[in-house]
Amino acid sequence: MQTIEKKKTVFSGIQPTGNLHLGNYIGALRNFGPLQEEYNCLYSIVDLHAITVRQNPTELRQNCLKLMSLYLACGLDPQKSLIYFQSHVAAHSELAWILNCYTYMGELSRMTQFKDKSQKHAENINVGLFAYPDLMAADILLYQTDLVPVGNDQKQHIELTRDVAERFNSVYGDVFTVPQPLIGKVGARVMSLSDPNRKMSKSDPEDTFIAILDDPAIIRKKVRRAVTDSEALVKFDVENKPGVSNLMSIYSAVTGKAFDAIEAEFEGQGYGTFKDAVADAVIAELEPIQNRYKQISADKAYLNEVMTSGAERAAKIAARTMSKVRRKVGLAPTQL
Ligand code: TRP
Repeated sequence: MQTIEKKKTVFSGIQPTGNLHLGNYIGALRNFGPLQEEYNCLYSIVDLHAITVRQNPTELRQNCLKLMSLYLACGLDPQKSLIYFQSHVAAHSELAWILNCYTYMGELSRMTQFKDKSQKHAENINVGLFAYPDLMAADILLYQTDLVPVGNDQKQHIELTRDVAERFNSVYGDVFTVPQPLIGKVGARVMSLSDPNRKMSKSDPEDTFIAILDDPAIIRKKVRRAVTDSEALVKFDVENKPGVSNLMSIYSAVTGKAFDAIEAEFEGQGYGTFKDAVADAVIAELEPIQNRYKQISADKAYLNEVMTSGAERAAKIAARTMSKVRRKVGLAPTQL
């Protein structure tokens, strides 16, 4: 065959809010690096999404740089992937507005994340929070993305992105690539250490999650305190032993060991030994990242170079889609 396979495009973004934790790492961040070998990847720090809830400006600014350093520390290579801040490419806001005009109130009202967040932030149910999925759709559609690696909780937003893209295409012809979600493996869902029936969340108290940048001593302390049960049996049983099962999932995710192998490894041993092994494994995984993070986050010149070249390259790709969209919709031409 004569066809040259074009590499597929992957887009993902993380909000620069709160403390990135082991759940974010296992569910998202650590999968980003390997994708670079096979796809054209764009990884954005979605700061415009972050302001849909109130942020402290100083903290937000710090979190933005922190997240970029973490991307790099987790193995994203700016030679292979585009790493940039969403707000540095104006086309995101521009396309989001246009997509707003092709999305129905009813569709956005059904989004479970909107419903959750409006409950959580009842004093600030702003238009941005409501239109959040269209900004996300703009992120994805601007780059003619084929695949979007996200957690299960974002599946509904990808569905909406597909619906809006298809709606737009059906009116104007093939403008957007209709993307597909790339959902992480099942079992990669990391639960809270204090309430293993809830997802590990960065908006919960500190001791319920392991932050990627937690000191090894803190990681050990948190794992030791993690809720288990009184059975003293290392067995995977989410229903009856959610705490132990969560620690097993974490252990399995970072060591690659299967559940039955883990059960065998700790047969006849108490939770103390098991928890120490979990802590050791998590520390072994995170410590090298923390060391790289320290170096990278101190190197302002390097960060500057990554962010400006990322934004510049992203803007070029985005401009191609935008010019097509403008023409199709009938906006005034910029040159006669
Ligand atoms: N909404 C996503 C989340 O909270 C973050 C996000 C914004 C995103 N834009 C995106 C994820 C585009 C994937 C693609 O996790």
